[in-house]
Amino acid sequence: MKLPIVLLLAALIVPVHYSLGEDATTPPAWAFAANPPGLTPPADDGHARTVPGSARSFTLTQIRDLYNPPDWHPDDHPAMPEVVGHGRNPGVYACGYCHLPNGMGRPENASLAGLPANYIAQQMADFKRGARKSSAPHLVPQAFMLAVAAAANDQEIAQAAQYFSGLKPKPWIKVIESDTVPKTEVKGWMLVEAPGAQREPIGERIIEMPVDLERTELRDANSGFIAYVPPGSIARGAALATEGGGGKTQACTICHGADLRGIGPVPALAGRSPSYLVRQLYDMQSGARNGAWAALMKTALAKLTLADMVDLAAYAAAQAP
Ligand code: HEC
Ligand code: HEC
Repeated sequence: MKLPIVLLLAALIVPVHYSLGEDATTPPAWAFAANPPGLTPPADDGHARTVPGSARSFTLTQIRDLYNPPDWHPDDHPAMPEVVGHGRNPGVYACGYCHLPNGMGRPENASLAGLPANYIAQQMADFKRGARKSSAPHLVPQAFMLAVAAAANDQEIAQAAQYFSGLKPKPWIKVIESDTVPKTEVKGWMLVEAPGAQREPIGERIIEMPVDLERTELRDANSGFIAYVPPGSIARGAALATEGGGGKTQACTICHGADLRGIGPVPALAGRSPSYLVRQLYDMQSGARNGAWAALMKTALAKLTLADMVDLAAYAAAQAP
């Protein structure tokens, strides 16, 4: 009788169906990065932190304040509306905490800079009414986004949409084709280099990590990311995105623009986090993300494999934003 109990406990502790997935039937663990259980951030030692190019300093407690996140580079962006800089207690966490004051975001959330205001408002409406969910609902950042969308009022959403759509996206992710990648672990809901400087084969994955982990942990909106993608993926993605890959899919450029920088209310894909893009393709194909405009993606998604999604995201992320 001992073995089954052990197995049952293991099943309760380790959500195997989420963490093993490297095929199209389970969310790929590298795009849906989950903190290991029991991971806690280091305690605040009260010491004021600084980052290059900023005269400001903040303690870890200040940096982790969901209602007053650090704005290291206030001259780099227009004045933030209250909802972006501070949110509203309780429940409306500051948009700028996760998406950063310059809207460039992080792999575990999304870049919002330059997205059409009506697209942003539509996504908030979809989150609010439960039409846009995650294939991995245990992920805390995704659950927080749903909570924020539920709590934010129409005026806050309109102000945030206007602010983020007015920002100009900047080069933020360096995309590199590579056979091998640093071994990674998950910290802060994103992949980071594991101790020991070991490498492993990339496989059919995208490995996206901070260029400078310390600055990213301090939420420095001037420190971006590096994404390793499989050899040949950018060219394969280009063929799919611009020509449809010989009938495999619809050319993405028809709706997302020749340069993938978006057309009208259709969002840009160029220069955005490839882990985020794969997560969205996966969620739209699985049906977890099924908002008012998602039907337009149905034909393009129908036959895509996870490997195709990797190629498409590698190509899109490598384009100038
Ligand atoms: C606690 C972190 C957090 C906060 C605070 C937050 N978001 Fe998000 N947001 C996320 C995450 C995570 C996602 C990506 C969801 C996914 O991957 O499915 C997201 C996605 C989005 C998207 C979808 C982007 C796209 O390209 O489709 C929009 C729009 C958005 N957030 C707007 C906002 C606004 C507006 C606020 C403030 C009112 C806000 N968010 C506050 C975490 C956050
Ligand atoms: C017929 C028009 C159309 C085509 C073709 C199309 N898309 Fe889209 N795409 C959309 C629309 C509209 C949305 C917004 C969906 C929503 O609101 O949920 C979208 C959303 C997306 C998103 C989510 C972006 C975000 O910010 O969250 C990704 C990723 C994406 N498309 C990738 C692709 C790729 C890759 C292709 C080609 C294989 C493609 N699309 C082809 C219309 C299209």
